[in-house]
Amino acid sequence: MAASAREEWRGRYYRLEEIQTHNHSQSTWILLHHRIYDLTKFLEEHPGGEEVLREQAGGDATESFEDVGHSTDARTLSETFIIGELHPDDRDKVQKPTETLITTLDSNSSWWTSWVIPGIAAIIVALMYHFYMSE
Ligand code: HEM
Repeated sequence: MAASAREEWRGRYYRLEEIQTHNHSQSTWILLHHRIYDLTKFLEEHPGGEEVLREQAGGDATESFEDVGHSTDARTLSETFIIGELHPDDRDKVQKPTETLITTLDSNSSWWTSWVIPGIAAIIVALMYHFYMSE
């Protein structure tokens, strides 16, 4: 695949502290899915505006980027700005929307509360119905 041959950024790790310093118009770095994008030269060209990128500068913009529902063209274009990857030791320090969702679904406690509360409510309704009917 032609694209993978150009992925020289793979394995080029940066620490979160360093990424956070690139939060100004002279150097604007953004994290998307643990990859670092240098958007300094793209700010003015971004169809969604400069402001939204500035707001996320130096931080993780994965959620905002996905919420917009960027086109395939936008995603292909975005690959040209990748300069490196977030250091593996820092990955649990940034938001992980998809993984959080999986954890929630796996969690037994949320399963319990989602069944026990409606269950108790149903019993109360049944008792009230029974009480009124027997009057
Ligand atoms: C490498 C990073 C990015 C690239 C290459 C990129 C590219 C684009 C492109 C090409 C569009 C036009 C619509 C489309 O083709 O989907 C767009 C729209 C937009 N982008 Fe980005 N974008 C990037 C990052 C972001 C981020 C991080 C945010 C939010 C913080 C953002 C927010 C938006 C918004 C709000 C629009 C306008 C959507 C609309 O008008 O419907 N973008 N972007």
